[in-house]
Amino acid sequence: MEKIYGIIGDPVAHSLSPVMHNAAFEKLGMDAIYLAFRVSPEEVGDAIRGAKSLGISGLNVTIPLKEKALFFVDAEEVAKRIGAINTIDFSSGTPVGYNTDGIGSLRVLKETTGEIKDKNVLILGAGGAAKAISFYLDVEGARVTIANRTKERAARLASNLHNADFSGLGLELEKRIEASDILINATSVGMHPNEDATLVSADMMHPDLVVFDIVYNPMETKLLKEAKRAGVKKIVDGVKMLVYQGAASFKIWTKKEPPIETMEKAVRAALNRD
Ligand code: ATR
Repeated sequence: MEKIYGIIGDPVAHSLSPVMHNAAFEKLGMDAIYLAFRVSPEEVGDAIRGAKSLGISGLNVTIPLKEKALFFVDAEEVAKRIGAINTIDFSSGTPVGYNTDGIGSLRVLKETTGEIKDKNVLILGAGGAAKAISFYLDVEGARVTIANRTKERAARLASNLHNADFSGLGLELEKRIEASDILINATSVGMHPNEDATLVSADMMHPDLVVFDIVYNPMETKLLKEAKRAGVKKIVDGVKMLVYQGAASFKIWTKKEPPIETMEKAVRAALNRD
């Protein structure tokens, strides 16, 4: 029987996870389909219970549900420590939650910069994605600063890491960026349809900064355009992270080796069609 997978979130209509996973299923000749379901935060528990009842095999969880969804699954230890999940596996009967965001971003950054240890990393945001990324960077020995609109949220996240500081946005941010090796946008700012938004502009960046945006729709966000304008040499878009976190989810659900190149090609083709 055809297996059903999907993504829950809001907004979710522009998610490229369906294109990516369906390409992988096709490549491996699997009888499976991946769909997008718009779910509000109030309904995340019902959605997870309903998915189990309907025999759905696996789900991804995206903005703004990653933290709330944790309460409705048996979460693996690392996801509990992060405080957010992006993957649910139903194959054991009960919903089991995982977080593959952090693994995905770490793989991207290591490919771009090599060693992460002792790097100064500024993370914009303090939500589920920021938590996942900062947790893995912290374990690798990076010096992390969490900068968030709601400063208390940044302080709380930083206090859960070994070697981290926190900041608000705006003026305060400028000095922090000066002292950073890597800047990561882990907020939804700049995501379709608010494509002109960015928390950091070119005048705040230096050319040796690595600038990485987790937003992949559009592929070149306003932040990345600003980075280009500032002469930044290493610019990383959100597609790679999407693919690597998706590949990790795929492996959890199917126990098969994900066809990474096929997945990345499918995502970039879909984005180029937009
Ligand atoms: P996720 O779990 O996917 O990371 P989230 O928990 O809703 O989603 O977190 C979204 C992040 O984007 C938060 O850090 C949020 O800042 P606040 O904690 O102050 O809400 C940030 N964010 C969203 N829209 C923003 C905006 N317009 N300006 C600044 N930060 C924004």
